[in-house]
Amino acid sequence: MDKKVTVIGAGNVGATAAQRLAEKELCDVVLVDIIEGVPQGKALDLAEAAPIEKHDAHLVGTNAYDASADSDIVIITAGIPRKPGMSRDDLLTTNAGIVKKVTQEVASRSPKATLIIVSNPLDAMCHVALDASRFPKQRVIGMAGVLDSARFRAFIAMELNVSVENTHAFVLGGHGDTMVPLPRYSSVAGIPITELMTPERIEALVKRTRNGGAEIVSLLKTGSAYYAPASAAVEMAESILKDKKKILPCAAYLQGEYGIKDLFIGVPVKLGAGGIEQVIEIKLTAEENAALQKSAAAVQELKSALAQLKY
Ligand code: NAI
Ligand code: 2OP
Repeated sequence: MDKKVTVIGAGNVGATAAQRLAEKELCDVVLVDIIEGVPQGKALDLAEAAPIEKHDAHLVGTNAYDASADSDIVIITAGIPRKPGMSRDDLLTTNAGIVKKVTQEVASRSPKATLIIVSNPLDAMCHVALDASRFPKQRVIGMAGVLDSARFRAFIAMELNVSVENTHAFVLGGHGDTMVPLPRYSSVAGIPITELMTPERIEALVKRTRNGGAEIVSLLKTGSAYYAPASAAVEMAESILKDKKKILPCAAYLQGEYGIKDLFIGVPVKLGAGGIEQVIEIKLTAEENAALQKSAAAVQELKSALAQLKY
């Protein structure tokens, strides 16, 4: 393939993302993990599935970083996931150290890459990656809104018994309890869901979306969601690799947009070969804007906590 994506962390999200990237034949894949044998084993297993899945993507698994050189995209999933009873924010200290280290390793070898951050707490880890890489803000992007919006879309489709393909949804804000699902901008075949459901049912779906990560954690008991998170990261990667210029909700470093400064937060962006090519500023009602500002305040708190940490 003429494109290369490195996935850091060969755990649940990372290995699933590697599988989806290869099976969509988007790029060659380098899978990196700290545990000896795991990335090698998973990459080989995926390569052995290739004749059946009918793709010619090359997969390499490694504990070192040399094979990652000159990647077009690096997806960072390294870290520890949530266990029942833990919030995403409980992961702050451990994952900040891991994300800083792996970002330095990849940034020095792939100075032109776009980084897609997945590790939690997501918005805070984007700050760590931006600082550690010293990349321009357009090339450090957090994955959360695509996942949260996909969950909202899935719940809308289940509620109305329609194809998921007819659904569209936007969830903005930080990747936490303060995330901001936007029913006014969510629709089925172009019809706003506010025309199709009672306010009570919409509120129930909004609540389920906000709790979407915790719902999976409580079912799995030993980890967090990974199929949908991997799909979300790969949708972002595909838009960049193919320069598709999709408008997707992603964590972007804002410098005044939406009245928010020097902070990563989920907003609609245009994703193309240059990474974030535009931050789309949609009109929000006073109530929606208040919810976004509240979410930004929660991310700011995490950013400030990060500044106090030694990692
Ligand atoms: P996992 O535990 O299955 O995989 C994490 C992998 O990272 C492990 O294989 C581990 O060995 C590896 N790792 C740890 N330190 C490393 C280092 N220094 N260098 C290289 N690899 C290292 O966890 P899972 O489920 O894949 O989740 C990964 C992260 O993604 C977690 O922080 C989780 O909370 C987050 N996540 C974020 C989502 C989002 O919407 N942004 C959605 C789902 C997960
Ligand atoms: C999720 O939303 C844990 O952030 C992860 O599933």
